[in-house]
Amino acid sequence: MDKENKKIKRYTITSALPYANGPIHIGHLAGVYIPADIYARYLRLRGEDVLFIGGSDEHGVPITIKARQEGVSPQAIVDRYHEMIKASFKELGISFDIYSRTSLPLHHDTASEFFTTLFNKGKFIEKTALQLYDEANGEFLADRYVTGTCPHCNNDKAYGDQCEKCGTSLNATDLINPRSVLSGNPPVMKETKHWYLPLDQYEPWLREWILEGHKDDWKPNVYGQCKSWIDQGLQPRAVTRDLDWGVNVPLEEAKGKVLYVWFDAPIGYISAAKDWATQKTNEARVTDPAHPGFDWKPYWKSPDTKLVHFIGKDNIVFHCIIFPAMLKAEGSYILPDNVPANEFLNLEGDKISTSRNWAVWLHEYLDDFPGKQDVLRYVLCANAPETKDNDFTWKDFQARNNNELLAIFGNFINRTLVLTQKYFNGKVPGVNMFMPEDQVLIENIAAFPGRLEYSLEHYRFREALNELMNLARLGNKYLTEMEPWKKFREEPDRVETVLHLCLQICANLAILSEPFLPFTSLNIRQMMNFTSGSWFDAGKSDLLPAGHMLAEPRYLFERIDDTAIEAQVKKLRDTKVQNENSSEVEVVTGKPVITYDDFSKMDIRTGTILAAEKVPKTKKLLKLTIHTGVDTRTIVSGIAEFYEPEQLIGRKACFLINLEPRDIKGIQSNGMILMAEDSSGQLTLVSPADDLHDGSTVK
Ligand code: MF3
Ligand code: ZN
Repeated sequence: MDKENKKIKRYTITSALPYANGPIHIGHLAGVYIPADIYARYLRLRGEDVLFIGGSDEHGVPITIKARQEGVSPQAIVDRYHEMIKASFKELGISFDIYSRTSLPLHHDTASEFFTTLFNKGKFIEKTALQLYDEANGEFLADRYVTGTCPHCNNDKAYGDQCEKCGTSLNATDLINPRSVLSGNPPVMKETKHWYLPLDQYEPWLREWILEGHKDDWKPNVYGQCKSWIDQGLQPRAVTRDLDWGVNVPLEEAKGKVLYVWFDAPIGYISAAKDWATQKTNEARVTDPAHPGFDWKPYWKSPDTKLVHFIGKDNIVFHCIIFPAMLKAEGSYILPDNVPANEFLNLEGDKISTSRNWAVWLHEYLDDFPGKQDVLRYVLCANAPETKDNDFTWKDFQARNNNELLAIFGNFINRTLVLTQKYFNGKVPGVNMFMPEDQVLIENIAAFPGRLEYSLEHYRFREALNELMNLARLGNKYLTEMEPWKKFREEPDRVETVLHLCLQICANLAILSEPFLPFTSLNIRQMMNFTSGSWFDAGKSDLLPAGHMLAEPRYLFERIDDTAIEAQVKKLRDTKVQNENSSEVEVVTGKPVITYDDFSKMDIRTGTILAAEKVPKTKKLLKLTIHTGVDTRTIVSGIAEFYEPEQLIGRKACFLINLEPRDIKGIQSNGMILMAEDSSGQLTLVSPADDLHDGSTVK
């Protein structure tokens, strides 16, 4: 198949669906959303039919862990972050055609149906295998519910699905010394049945499709990762999990199991297209009830559609190997044409981390730098980790704003517009005295769009942005060399030509900057009253006719001063200090959410320990005589390892007094003494103040 000659009729552009368990940060933006948006905008400007897809990934263990930590439902977590993420993307000008979410019934149906199709075609293998199980919590431990030592690099904080240090994707059972994130205990092994996609069977096809077919057009980092995966030998992958949050496995015998998040999430791209078609159809029919409606299918099924996945490097295996194998197995979908994955962006020399709050959060940036969306877009594209990991620093952010956007781009446009106001009252002058250097300039201008397009089409967004800046540099150089401010008196004709051409460059900048700096592009157009001029007009030097009236010039960019930067640096420094003072909490509560009514059923009182003695023939038990303020009673408690009886006599403590009586070693125990247990298992009395009356209620 000759890809170059294939006529492409439409584009489906996907951007990785972010987990809805935290806000968006600059790493997400530089790696995925900025390049995807530039690409989508560029194609639309060329008049292409584009469906640019985004959405929230709302399943998976990171979300249920967060919900447990906060003591709320997973749905509450995803609702919160979905809305927040969606709004911040919109404000940054990420031009999704749809921003969907995977908790929608539409998505559950789509993913479920996809599974059923593969199941009915016999594409899965069923296996009953031993899996890690937390006995204390009575739950299987999938993916991030287990941590342990990575068998490849010895990192002792590897997760059950992946080691973030060496990037290897793991099975929970691969971990050395696994520990449950729920209880901190070492898990036991327990049998459970799951459905697997036998990736090994797809190996010959993957070799041909990727290793031979995409040798030249996929980025070396992407191709290299795929090759190493395939060369290491692919294994069957479980696509189901023992979890209660996700898309239910649509099989009678799989009650209580859900689809693995990495099975359902990429199908989310398809559901999002359906969501888009439904919404667009509904909108259209408001004004035109007979509207034929919008169809999602061509975007996913038509061979003349080009599918491109924008992702970060940690997602490569899922988008290049697993999801394509799923699509291939299903049979009716197209495959990605390219997967231009980026490397990682670091922040001030350290890996960005949501849990350590080491990030520049998009919503905070938008608050702290109102109206400066394009500055962030510019800096993150200019410094994008396209071929290697890169570092974001606030100093660099400031320098790129002040020395590039402001001093080169903004300054050229501002000087041109101000001089035109000054000499010609804002009216575009004509070409009068034409010199050889003007001809050179015109030819130079004409060469820019082709170079920019070449870079954009090869997913080299930094290079493309640099070309855009080179056009502004060219303008600055010309203007500086021509010195119209010195010539206006003696050679006004010459100045007319010079400003005429500079204005043509400004118009070109307005057109060509739109994919990168959409807000700025619009501002330039407004200042110049420039409404015509499509992408295909770029490169021309007659975009603004003589006599055309410009509007008032304004500044496109402002200087960012040291105080603004220092405030950001301080924020990060404070985070560092906080992190150093708090040891990482790894264990999250394994308890389900309860209502206030559940809680209020407990009668907890303060009381005094009147007597304490060891229960004979036991190591752990003490028999306590308690004054509860209501009565005097006996409680048997397993605290003998931590307290000698005489240490307890006379101490105040808290007691659950309406616990049903239990017989312990022949002694009736009437209630429970409350103790605090630290991570090492040490128990300590929870002591109320000495002057508190016995029988006070704790609530
Ligand atoms: N939520 C995943 C992540 O943040 C990305 C999912 S991409 C999709 O790494 F293809 F699965 F949707
Ligand atoms: Zn590792």
